[in-house]
Amino acid sequence: MTAEQSGPGDKPSFEGNIQKLFRPMDREAMLGSFDLWSYEDVKKHAMPILEQLQAGSMPCDEQWPAAQVAVFAKWVATGMAK
Ligand code: HEM
Repeated sequence: MTAEQSGPGDKPSFEGNIQKLFRPMDREAMLGSFDLWSYEDVKKHAMPILEQLQAGSMPCDEQWPAAQVAVFAKWVATGMAK
């Protein structure tokens, strides 16, 4: 399964599918609040992160493609596997 696609039976994982979605500049921009390359931090802040991604207000410079937001949403819905 790639980061961009997932089928109905797939369960995304942080290390396999989620971490790579965050660019180095995303990580650096947000380090004051949380580390987007840290499983524990992203798990802890998953709901506000998802809200920002769905609203299109984060990242600050462009919106994520809908398929990418869907993978993050699915990761949250399926229990945030490491
Ligand atoms: C996928 C990448 C990113 C995610 C998931 C993300 C997520 C978030 C979240 C969850 C907040 C807190 C919002 C709240 O609940 O108040 C936030 C705030 C903020 N982010 Fe990001 N961020 C990302 C990338 C960036 C980038 C690239 C920049 C710009 C350089 C940026 C700049 C900011 C700023 C300035 C705030 C504070 C806004 C405020 O005070 O209301 N973020 N971000």
